[in-house]
Amino acid sequence: MIRNILCIGAGYVGGPTMAIIAKHCPDVRVVVADINAERVAAWQSGVAPIYEPGLEDVLRMSLGRNLHFTADVEGAIPDAEMIFVSVNTPTKTFGQGAGRAADLQHWEKTARSILQHARGDTIVVEKSTLPVRTAEAMERIFKSRDGGARFQVLSNPEFLAEGTAIEDLEHPDRVLIGGAETPDGQAAIQELVDLYARWVPRDRILTTNVWSAELSKLAANAFLAQRVSSINAISALCEQTGADVQEVGRAIGTDHRIGPHFLRASVGFGGSCFEKDILNLVYLCECYGLEEVGRYWEAVVTMNQYQKRRFVQRMIHAMFNTLADKQITVFGFAFKADTGDTRQSPAIQVCRELLGERAFVCVTDPQALDGARRDLADAGPRVSFTPDPYEAARGAHAIALLTDWREYRDLDYQRIYARMERPAFFFDGRNLLDPEKLHRIGFNVYPIGLPERSLL
Ligand code: NAD
Ligand code: UGA
Repeated sequence: MIRNILCIGAGYVGGPTMAIIAKHCPDVRVVVADINAERVAAWQSGVAPIYEPGLEDVLRMSLGRNLHFTADVEGAIPDAEMIFVSVNTPTKTFGQGAGRAADLQHWEKTARSILQHARGDTIVVEKSTLPVRTAEAMERIFKSRDGGARFQVLSNPEFLAEGTAIEDLEHPDRVLIGGAETPDGQAAIQELVDLYARWVPRDRILTTNVWSAELSKLAANAFLAQRVSSINAISALCEQTGADVQEVGRAIGTDHRIGPHFLRASVGFGGSCFEKDILNLVYLCECYGLEEVGRYWEAVVTMNQYQKRRFVQRMIHAMFNTLADKQITVFGFAFKADTGDTRQSPAIQVCRELLGERAFVCVTDPQALDGARRDLADAGPRVSFTPDPYEAARGAHAIALLTDWREYRDLDYQRIYARMERPAFFFDGRNLLDPEKLHRIGFNVYPIGLPERSLL
């Protein structure tokens, strides 16, 4: 029975996942280590450094009891019997595979540090999303030194989505654990199964070989993103033909073989993982000489970029082919509702293109303004930020709604309309609002995949 767990990487995955493990396994000591001392201090104070509904309640249940955060990564390794590695694996920005392959430097540094500091036999669990066969590379590093600790490497990819992380961790559709088909590998798998079985029904814990687990994570994200790109592709056709993408989504989603989820047309998908993981998949395909397979998946990303560009083109076209010196107010900068995360948010590209058209851009968001300021730090004086949507709308020629925050549904749009320039435009990048209602107020409304409601 495992009694001492370490997680290296206290980010969006490491923090919430370990808080849930600590909650359900009060007899297990859980330490989360990160090189980012500021992040560690925030976690340790009980105020999470990320916005995630329900997280702080879970965090405070175990903090100081069996859940601890530390910036001393190396010092935490010797006592751990099981080490989760949850460091970031962004897209490589340099050298071979730049813009496609995963940057594995953080992961490899962690592996070497574990090798150097581990004392006893240790189970190392890949929590980060990694290219297929990374566990093999990890094992080779661990075997590069004779004697001392012995290691078993498991792949246990994480499927939580931001904004619903606590619910996803409490009631996962499945937990996936991949390990070696040797007796030692199977014993390590069993240790991790027993840990999750404290709160996850056994029939939801799937065990596979390591490669299947690693590939399943990339495949799951590729399939999810593909659905968004598919409905977005259909949304372009809807706008041309008078079909309604929401009606089409409902019509196809009621087929039980297709299902209703992930069929919401939008300005495009964002987030730290979809694009990165698909590009990683494409790179893997290329490395294995599977050009056609790579091109197939790459089209999901191409369609997403097209959708973001198309959104801005529609704005320009609707607003008499010029945005110069007009004020565009952006409702929502986070990549989705209920998170402060702006990584790869479609709002970044949309704002940059609007600024490229010499518009003034005013951004409002209930949680992501710090991220927005960082992402647009080089944009100069044409961009401004305010947490108050009414303030943001003052003097605006148009509103572009880019994040599906629930609170945007409940705003007083009559009041907002009253403080805008005429004609007032509303571009709903999430189909969050009733276009008819907005139109009755006086807005020229442009939802995604629906006919425009224009007064002109
Ligand atoms: P993140 O950037 O929020 O957190 C990663 C943390 O690792 C950072 O705090 C960083 O300081 C730390 N770190 C980096 N190198 C380190 C080192 N050598 N030692 C100690 N700490 C180190 O990233 P994230 O969003 O939590 O994602 C982590 C992994 O999980 C990625 O591979 C991602 O693809 C995957 N994933 C993310 C999500 C998500 O919703 N964000 C969901 C499923 C899987
Ligand atoms: C996604 C997956 O859903 C998780 O299972 C996975 O663990 C995670 O990536 C990861 O590996 O990081 P996340 O990116 O947090 O989770 O959020 P999603 O709910 O998947 O949304 C991703 C993007 O797609 C958002 O920008 C969202 O607004 C957009 N989206 C989603 C749509 O435009 N339409 C939809 O119908 C669904």
